[in-house]
Parts: sequence; structure tokens; C-alpha cells
Amino acid sequence: MSSDTVNNTSASGGIGGEPIQAGPIQAGPGGADALRNAEANAQWGGRFARGPSVIMQDINASIGFDRKMWRQDIRGSLAHAAMLARAGVIAPGDEAAIRGGLGAIAQEIEAGRFPFVEDLEDIHMNIEARLTERIGEAGKRLHTGRSRNDQVATDFRLWVRDALDGLDAQVADVMRALADRAAEFAADPMPGFTHLQTAQPVTFGHHLLAYVEMLHRDRGRLADCRRRLNECPLGAAALAGTSFPIDRDHTAAALGFDRPAANSLDAVSDRDFALEFLAAAAICGTHLSRLAEELVIWCSAPFGFVRLSDAFTTGSSIMPQKRNPDAAELARAKTGRITGALVALLTVMKGLPLAYAKDMQEDKEPVFDAADALSLSLAAIGGMVRDMAPDLPRMRAMAGSGFATATDLADWLVRVLRLPFRTAHHVTGRVVAAAEARGVGLADLDLREMQAVEPGITADVFDVLTVDASVASRTSFGGTAPANVAAQAARWQALLR
Ligand code: ARG
Repeated sequence: MSSDTVNNTSASGGIGGEPIQAGPIQAGPGGADALRNAEANAQWGGRFARGPSVIMQDINASIGFDRKMWRQDIRGSLAHAAMLARAGVIAPGDEAAIRGGLGAIAQEIEAGRFPFVEDLEDIHMNIEARLTERIGEAGKRLHTGRSRNDQVATDFRLWVRDALDGLDAQVADVMRALADRAAEFAADPMPGFTHLQTAQPVTFGHHLLAYVEMLHRDRGRLADCRRRLNECPLGAAALAGTSFPIDRDHTAAALGFDRPAANSLDAVSDRDFALEFLAAAAICGTHLSRLAEELVIWCSAPFGFVRLSDAFTTGSSIMPQKRNPDAAELARAKTGRITGALVALLTVMKGLPLAYAKDMQEDKEPVFDAADALSLSLAAIGGMVRDMAPDLPRMRAMAGSGFATATDLADWLVRVLRLPFRTAHHVTGRVVAAAEARGVGLADLDLREMQAVEPGITADVFDVLTVDASVASRTSFGGTAPANVAAQAARWQALLR
């Protein structure tokens, strides 16, 4: 290969959305095989005569995204080095040097001064190489009894665990917002729907608390994922364990894990925690998309149930009257990414033989993207729940439309006249038909019109035909009666305080 196809990349080649090669790649014979690096990789290149091709490097490198895990990588290395020193595998002085070096590196990264190097593939080798650059020989001892396979599995678990904790707090915050608004609107009626057709009146507070229940289950799924995730792969080494006298209980405890993972092959090849995280995130995202959709519907002019302020809407460049609920629409849409991430990782993991395979490097981007999308959606939904201003008179008026209290009439016929429910259902249908024919609501019929259908009906029936009477009567456990709703809202407020 002629030397003009060889392309040297500066060690500080940029990352993060920018093209990474420092200079142009020469076109011509062997263009795709062009070498970026004449030198073999410093971390593993002992048996390699020269560096990888540009394409090899492009497909292989993960530093562009896995540098997100730098904190977790440093935490893992600190725990590993401390354990190695305790076990007498490295000298105390080396451990101290490693600790100091990693501290300095953390500061460099924090300050945006760390020279990320594409040639070094990933965050693990970037930090390790920099450590050796800073502290010399001692840095080269850090990787004793460890492999990138158990290292990345540990770092990624720590990252997902941190993400779970952050998202759990955000879900709790949205629940708090919903419970507060539910307490505020515990007695305010709105139409309840099935098939998006007016069904029976419910209270707005009751409707909001339905989402609190969903989000509570989401928190359960996140907690469940965290519980099963919390075993430490570190010390599984490449796949078989190590001959060094390491103390896996020590590193596991130091990193906040409940115990070390029991099988070294499983430890380096398990990504269940990421799949469970994505599954829980996808379900939560789906819940948020349902609420987002309701906000979009409620904000539409034909519904007019709710108004969002300028803070959560945008205007149209052509239609001056428009107030678009973009944040709700985007929260509704973001769940597509999250579910996509779950399907992507399931597909990556399917059929992978034990133990580690490079395929698993494709685990991170879906998880990072899904975590960002869910976090943003939660923030937007929480913001909109606090922001929304319901039009209570309109919701109340709509709650009584569409013969929404027909079931109350049927129940009255059962309770007072002792009609079998099926018969009551039929009688009520005929009363509804009479009202529909006259173009009035049920409560606007006069008694004689009802008695023409069922002679036993008395004036008492009007007590159950109003929206307020309807919701007040739903006192069964879990029902929409305002007293129930107020009690449930208060219970959630207390639980979430
Ligand atoms: N960047 C790699 C990943 O994310 C690290 C592990 C590499 N291990 C290996 N044997 N090449 O999976």
C-alpha cells in the first residue's frame, strides 16, 4: 500500500458529532482500507504490526457515546485499585498514585479539558491511557485481574442505576403534581369516556389520579429493575474469572452493589438490566403518551376543557389564532424512541452466544437515548400538569351532555322499582330515545313523558339525573364520588411528601 493512503490522526482528534479524522482520507486504490494509524494500538497492539483501517476504527470506536459513563468508569477503577492494594496485588503506593491520577482526570473531564482520543476506542481505554500518561508505571497496573468486559458491564450497570434513581425521582414529582391537581379538582365533574364517547360523569380529580396509579406501577418496575440489576460483574474478568486473589465482595460493596454476580460468563454477557430498564421506560413512556394525548384533545377548541399557558405552547407562523400544545405532542411522540430502543436492544441480544461479543457495545446508545427522552417527557408532563387551567364550567356542562346520566336512571329503576337490570336498561333506552327525539337532556324531560315509557317512575328520579348527583352516588371503593377522590388525593399527597 502506498504511503499516500496512510492517514495519521492526531491524538486529540475531536469527538461529539464532529467528523473525527484530522485530515482528509486520500481517495484512490485501497481507499476503504486506508490506515488511520500507522502504529498498532498501544493498549492491546503487542501482536499487531500496524493500526486498523479507517473503517475498522469508525465501526469499532464507542468513545463518541460511552464517554457519558466517565464518572462510573472512574468509580469502578477506584474500587478495583483499592481492592487490589488490600489484597496485596498492587503496592499501596501504586494505589495512592492511581487514586490521585484518577482524581485529576475527573477534574480534567469535568472542566472539558480531557483529550478524548478516537484511536483509544472507548472511555475505558481513554481513561486508562491518560492515567499512565500522568502517573507512569503505576497506571499500567490498574488493569490487573480485570478486563474491559467486566469493566464495561460494571460501568454500564452503575450508569443505568444512576439513571433509574434520577428517573424515579422525576416520576415521583409528576405524581405529586397530579395528586395536587386532583385534590384541587376532587369535586369537579367532567365527562368520563369509553370509546371516546361520553359514558358517565367522573370528576377531573378522579381522572388525574388514574395516572398516579399508572406512574406508581412504573416506579415499581423501576425499583424492581434496580433490585435485580444490583449485582456486581467486576472481577469476572474477560469471562472466566482471574487467578489473582481478588476480593469481589469488597468491590461489590464499595460500589453499592448487593453482592458480586455469581457466574463470570453471565456477569460479562448479561444485559437484562438494560432490557428491563428499557421495558420499564417504554411502559412509562406509553403512560405519558396517553396523558399527552388527552392534553392535546382537551386543549382543542371543540373540547376546550383545558388551557395551557404560553409557557407550554407555541404559535403558528401563519395562523395568528393558534396555540399549539407542542410539548404534549412531543411527549406523545418521544415514546416512539423509547419503545424503539427496547426493540433495538432485544434484537442485538437475540442469539448472542456466551460470553461477551462486540455486538454488546450497541447496548449503550439506545439506553442513553431512551433515558434522555423519558427524562424530558417527564419534565414536560410535570410542567404541563402544573400549568394547565381547566375550564370547569365547560367540563361540567359537557359532563351532562350525551345522556351521560342514563346509567343513573337505569340504576334508579332497579333500586326503587325493583326492575331487573336488563329491563331497566331497555326502559332507559326508550326514555333516552324520547329525549333525543325532543332534542333535550334526560333531566329536561317532564315526568309524564317518562311515565309514558314506565308508569312507575316518580318525580324522585330527577334527584339522580344531575351530574353532581351522579358522581356523588359512585361511592364504591375506587369510584369517582368526590369524597373518595379527595381521600385518595390526600393519601397520595401524604405518601409522596
Ligand atoms: N467498548 C466496549 C463495549 O462497549 C468495551 C468492551 C470491549 N471488550 C472487548 N473485549 N473488546 O462493549
